[in-house]
Amino acid sequence: MTGSYRDLVIRLTAERHLRGSAEYRHLLDPEAIREDVELLHEAARRVARVVFGSKVYARALIEITNRCRNNCLYCGLRRDNRSLSRYSLDTATIVECCRRAHDAGFRTFVLQGGEDPAATVERVCSMVAEVHGRFPDAAITLSLGEWPDAAYEAFFEAGATRYLLRHETRNSRHYSRLHPPEMSLDNRLRCLATLKRIGYQTGTGIMVGSPFQTAGEIAEDLEYMADLEPEMIGIGPFIPHGATPFACFPPGSVDMTLRLISILRLMFPNANIPATTALATLGGEGRVKGILAGANVVMPNASPSEVRASYSLYDGKACRGRESIEGLDTLKRELDAAGYQLTFEKGDFKCMILNHR
Ligand code: 5AD
Ligand code: SF4
Repeated sequence: MTGSYRDLVIRLTAERHLRGSAEYRHLLDPEAIREDVELLHEAARRVARVVFGSKVYARALIEITNRCRNNCLYCGLRRDNRSLSRYSLDTATIVECCRRAHDAGFRTFVLQGGEDPAATVERVCSMVAEVHGRFPDAAITLSLGEWPDAAYEAFFEAGATRYLLRHETRNSRHYSRLHPPEMSLDNRLRCLATLKRIGYQTGTGIMVGSPFQTAGEIAEDLEYMADLEPEMIGIGPFIPHGATPFACFPPGSVDMTLRLISILRLMFPNANIPATTALATLGGEGRVKGILAGANVVMPNASPSEVRASYSLYDGKACRGRESIEGLDTLKRELDAAGYQLTFEKGDFKCMILNHR
C-alpha cells in the first residue's frame, strides 16, 4: 500500500527517498491530478530555493566532435547515419569558442562529443591542458563517452574536474534494446564508478520516454542514482531522429520529464540539474519550465554556429536564439521574469553549502 500522492511528496521532501519502486511509480502515474503534480513541483522549487537561492548556473556547451564509433539506436550521431556531415574541432577552434564564452562571462565549459575514433588519450589530454592553461579560472566538464579507467585518470590530471555520462537506463534488458550488442550496461556502470572514484563531479541521467521504457525502469534508474550519488543529473525527453531505427517512435513527455526533475531535486537537494536542451526543444519555454520544476543549470550552445546543425542528436534540436550564447540576453530576461538570476559562478558541488534542513 503506498500513501496518497501528497503524502509521498511530503515524505520524499523530508526523507529524500521513498520505499521502493511502487511509490516512485505512483509519483509518475499519468492519471495523477494536476494539483498533486503541482505540489511536487512546488516542493522541488522550494528545495532549490533553499540551496541555490534565486541563482541559475550558466555553462557553455561546446560540441567538439559529431564523429562517433558507436551506433546507439536513438542517436542521430550514430555511425550508420551516413546523411550527416561529420566534423571535429581542432584545439585552436575549441580555445576560440572558450574565449568567446569566457568573454561573455562563462566560467564552466562543457566539452561534449561523440566517441570520435580519431581521439586518443594524448590528444584529449593536450586539448584539456591547453584550455585549462588559458582559462585557469574556469571549470572543464567533459562529456566524451566511455573510456578505459586510465584515460579518465589522465583527463583528470590534465585539468578536467567534471564528467557527464548518462547511464541511459539501469535495466540491462532495456539497455540492450537501445544499444547495439557490442555496448554493455556493465561497461557504462564501470565508467561511472571509476569517474566517482577518481574524484570527478560525476553526472549521469536518462532520456524520458525512450523506446520500450516503462515506469518500472525509471524507478530502477532512481534507485541506481540513489546509490551512485551523482553530483549532476541530466534528464531530457527522448526525441526521435529521422535517420535512426527509432525514427517512428513518439517523443517522450515533457510532463514526465518535469516530474522527474522534481523527484530528483527532492532526492538530491544540492545536485546540479540542468534544464536540458531536449526539454527546451519540446517544451517551448522548456528551460524556464525546467527551472520551475527544480532544475538549477542552463547550458547555452557555444559551438561554432556553422557546425551546430551537424550536432544533430535528434530532430529539431534547439541551438540558436535563447538556447545559444548569442541569445543570452533573452534567456536572462526570461529567467528574470520568472524570478531567477543567471549566474556565471562555477557552482562546484563540493563547495556548495549544504544548508537544506
Ligand atoms: N533524444 C533525446 N536525447 C538524446 N540523446 C541522444 N539521442 C537522443 C535523442 N534522440 C542524449 C543521450 C546522450 C546525450 C548526449 O544526448 O541521453 O547521453
Ligand atoms: Fe555516439 Fe553518444 Fe550518440 Fe551513442 S549517444 S551514438 S555514444 S554520440
